[in-house]
Amino acid sequence: MAAEAELSALLTESRRFPPPADFARDSNAQPEIYERAHLDRLKFWSEQASRLKWDEPWDQVLDWQAPFARWFVGGKLNASVNCVDRHVEAGNGERIAYHWIGEPEGETRDISYAQLKDMVCQAANALTELGVAKGDRVAIYMPMIPETVVAMLACARIGAPHTVVFAGFSADALRNRIIDCDARLVITADGGFRRGTATALKPAVDNAVAGLDGVRNVLVVRRTGQPVDWDDARDRWWHDVVAGQSTEHTAPAHDSEHPLYVMYTSGTTAKPKGILHTTGGYLTHVSATHRLVFDIKPESDVFWTAADIGWVTGHSYIVYGPLANGTTSVLYEGTPDAGGRDRWWRIVEEKQVSILYTAPTTIRTFMKWGEQFPGAHDLSSLRLLGSVGEPINPEAWIWYRKHIGGDRCPVVDTWWQTETGGIMITPLPGITATKPGSAMTAFPGISVDVLDNGGKPVDNGGGGVLVVTEPWPGMLRGIWGDDERYRQTYWSRFDELYFAGDGAKRDVDGDIWLLGRVDDVMNVSGHRISTTEVESALVSHPSVAEAAVVGATDAITGQGIVAFVTVKGDAALDSKAGEQLIADLREHVAEQIGKIARPRQILLTPELPKTRSGKIMRRLLRDVAEHRELGDVTTLADPTVVNMIDEMMATTTHPEE
Ligand code: WT7
Repeated sequence: MAAEAELSALLTESRRFPPPADFARDSNAQPEIYERAHLDRLKFWSEQASRLKWDEPWDQVLDWQAPFARWFVGGKLNASVNCVDRHVEAGNGERIAYHWIGEPEGETRDISYAQLKDMVCQAANALTELGVAKGDRVAIYMPMIPETVVAMLACARIGAPHTVVFAGFSADALRNRIIDCDARLVITADGGFRRGTATALKPAVDNAVAGLDGVRNVLVVRRTGQPVDWDDARDRWWHDVVAGQSTEHTAPAHDSEHPLYVMYTSGTTAKPKGILHTTGGYLTHVSATHRLVFDIKPESDVFWTAADIGWVTGHSYIVYGPLANGTTSVLYEGTPDAGGRDRWWRIVEEKQVSILYTAPTTIRTFMKWGEQFPGAHDLSSLRLLGSVGEPINPEAWIWYRKHIGGDRCPVVDTWWQTETGGIMITPLPGITATKPGSAMTAFPGISVDVLDNGGKPVDNGGGGVLVVTEPWPGMLRGIWGDDERYRQTYWSRFDELYFAGDGAKRDVDGDIWLLGRVDDVMNVSGHRISTTEVESALVSHPSVAEAAVVGATDAITGQGIVAFVTVKGDAALDSKAGEQLIADLREHVAEQIGKIARPRQILLTPELPKTRSGKIMRRLLRDVAEHRELGDVTTLADPTVVNMIDEMMATTTHPEE
């Protein structure tokens, strides 16, 4: 068969990859699990919860006052004890918790569960000495180093909810998050390593906390050794405050619903939402999904979620899920091409990684680089591959399975969100015959549906929007400080159903395919970015009058940010001034939000296409940005505007395209 015909045969909706025999036989999840969970959902979840260590048992599995849920009501536990102490007490203290791999070649640290316990206890004692009390919020702005995990677990241990802010966010973005959750301590590092150079973090923190009286201390890990400005009254070195502490710390038992963390994520407005997760239900959800979706065998597996701890994927599947299951994980600091385009495959070979979990955008980058890089390494330790963060196109799925998984490893495409806490729709590797590009079915104990605009479930073969129809243990408990927004965003579209904001279809077999966001949220390299947030960053620049931002399909990053901007005053810019302004605007967005939100392309246009009532027609701009035939323009106040923009777009190229 010709290669193309072969590919298209592989890509038909009904083409399935059944589980390999060894998976079917030895897998943690056996087929009866779906039926069992379906018959008694709450019993299923309480069985999962029972695998954790509780200081006091719960007296009610679920209290559901829609849209507010409480799980394992009355139960008490400590997340840090469940992630660390428990494994040491069970005699597994020598097991490696993390193979940490720094970006600079040769810099590695293996940290056992016993060592991790000592580090977490010391940090918990240090936080207490700094006056951090149960309920206080702590912001964490760190590179990918073991101390980041230690800081999170120390917070969890004393009951101080953490808010980890991805280190790629700007000082302004960090400041807004610190203010929103009123953090009293910020934990950071002098800097981190990125593509061979030391980048700074402390200056961003200095700017972020300037004038904020609520932030009483900044605790700084020395990572790179670069010089930093120092405020004697406020700043403390981690090695001064933590290292001398006792390695003993008696962990208090926290209520099952005690806040564990707040993670900010972009919505359809300019202000990010603080997604609140609590303790017992969240830990139950992430540990159960980690164990069953990844078929974790803690004695032998080496698990690698190649994501940043600053996103929910890192929280749930680098930190809480794997540690709760006593797993050995890889924690890698750098970029995939630091030290060569085969860096990941060297890590897999050296650390004998058995399960790899990453995003489609990274897989597509590897495809572009070529199969010779993975091909040069022995990847036979791998037994399972996962994908997360955006829809995976069937070509990338097939490539991943073939060139990374040796046509041997099942691929699990896992759909979930910051709000869901953990995986919701996924194959189970020992049970599900997978289809390239489909996340398949709801995890046991999870109920989802695809509804049409009128709120009616679609038939097989139909498309609509995704909803979750029953509360689940890892669900967000609200938006920090804004119950009304919580109701509005997730629970107002359909009565008592969770609206995810994703389009979905059911194929002829009823299996689910995720189709991307249906709101004004973009997905760039698996990162959720709000069009409104980028627009408001652009219009905060003194030269900008109006801005419209759309996500345009991008072969590597899924979507790319394209901005249409009109400038103030009527002075026409010459091309040199125009180029300068575009460069300034990209920098301005990086400062306001972070480099990840920098538009791929900015087009300066004399006008934006608007309806007669003055609404910007983003749909048409998306057509323009994707070089598509323009859709219906009859509702426009002035149809010539969009044609003009379309022509400008056709004649402009951008270096990053
Ligand atoms: C949005 C959530 C889940 C952790 C990383 C992103 C998209 C996520 C998939 C998938 C298709 C996916 C959705 C979702 N998404 N996983 N397997 N297939 N789309 O977390 O930043 O909260 O973004 O990512 O659009 O709503 P997030």
